[in-house]
Amino acid sequence: MLFDTGLHSTADARRLARKRLPWMVFDYIDGSAGEEHGAALSRQALQDIRLSPRVLRNVSNRDLSVTLFDTPMQRPFGISPMGMCNLSTPGADLMLAQIAREFNVPHGVSTVASTDMETLLSASGHKAWFQLYFSGDGTGTMQLVERAKRAGYDTLVLTLDVPEVGRRPRELRHGFKMPFRIGPRQFFDFAMHPRWSLTTLAKGSPTMANFDGKEYVFDRSESRAAADWGYFDKLRAAWPGKLVVKGVLNPEDALRLRDAGADAIQVSSHGCRQLDSAPPAILALRHIRAAVGPDFPLLYDSGIRSGEDIVKAYVMGADFVFLGRVLLFAMAAGGAEGLRTVWDILSDEVSLTMAQLGVTTMAELKDPEHHWLDAPLSYQ
Ligand SMILES: Cc1cc2nc3c(=O)[nH]c(=O)nc-3n(C[C@H](O)[C@H](O)[C@H](O)COP(=O)(O)O)c2cc1C
Repeated sequence: MLFDTGLHSTADARRLARKRLPWMVFDYIDGSAGEEHGAALSRQALQDIRLSPRVLRNVSNRDLSVTLFDTPMQRPFGISPMGMCNLSTPGADLMLAQIAREFNVPHGVSTVASTDMETLLSASGHKAWFQLYFSGDGTGTMQLVERAKRAGYDTLVLTLDVPEVGRRPRELRHGFKMPFRIGPRQFFDFAMHPRWSLTTLAKGSPTMANFDGKEYVFDRSESRAAADWGYFDKLRAAWPGKLVVKGVLNPEDALRLRDAGADAIQVSSHGCRQLDSAPPAILALRHIRAAVGPDFPLLYDSGIRSGEDIVKAYVMGADFVFLGRVLLFAMAAGGAEGLRTVWDILSDEVSLTMAQLGVTTMAELKDPEHHWLDAPLSYQ
């Protein structure tokens, strides 16, 4: 490359994104629940995990692929569902779909995606998984399930950790709303970030593209509290494909979901955007793995910022890892090129970490020998 892009880590992407995005958009992406202690503890817990390097194992040929649901994936990480991605840069949803297609990894398409679910399924080469929020009395939710079925989705991700939308003071301070509204405060913010405003707003402000306000309606702040185990059974009966349940931190819930027919559980604290006092999801993962045994598929997201973090999640029991904020920051920092750069950085970091640990496949990371157990593991 002729010029240094300035992107050498996900922290660089976040720093550049912070400069370019309006404060409201940066805080929508970066912010967490409450006082954000949970987000800090989640990072601390990941940092506290130490890995045990090994020598003389000939690690020249390292394979980053994994198999999930009998499908080979070229990378051990994929895209977690995120609402309103196009706020990070115009066309962000499509950039994510394209990278999912290229590396054959799942692309989580949010209920509140800024591009419609049909377009993203096709753009991702059928790698998209549709993420579902229960809301109201569940009628609209079932309409979306039928629509995902008709569109040809084979995997549904049911997010259960949002019985009510968490209080995120950074969002509230900026008056962040979906659909997007521009009052005097937002106008000033956008005027101070002309590059973003001229590109993003010039293309029409992003909307919740799965909802037309007639046949499909969604109110982000509407209560989702009525979901219960009966609803889960109903959904399981209605959905013939794979059903992933996202946002589980409790081992008993994990066991009950497995027994009720979930095909996989995505251990997640929603990036600490919901409950400030939640345990670090990476530690919950270890407990849930111990409860469900070695073979039940466990997926993981929350707090992943580097390839070493990805490897740590595998060491703690994950079968696949999903990325959130780092991808939005990558695109805010440099569009499709920024996304590709960060994707390659993470791939390199995973590969280098494997070399340090003396492994050539992701499957070997399940061996507890890689976990340096003398390190302090706080908040267990
Ligand atoms: C801006 C943003 C929007 C999100 N929207 C959704 C969503 O619509 N549905 C969902 O299940 N999770 C959503 N999430 C949570 C992510 O899927 C994922 O759990 C979280 O971002 C992982 O933490 P990380 O960002 O620290 O990697 C969102 C996260 C962010 C940052």
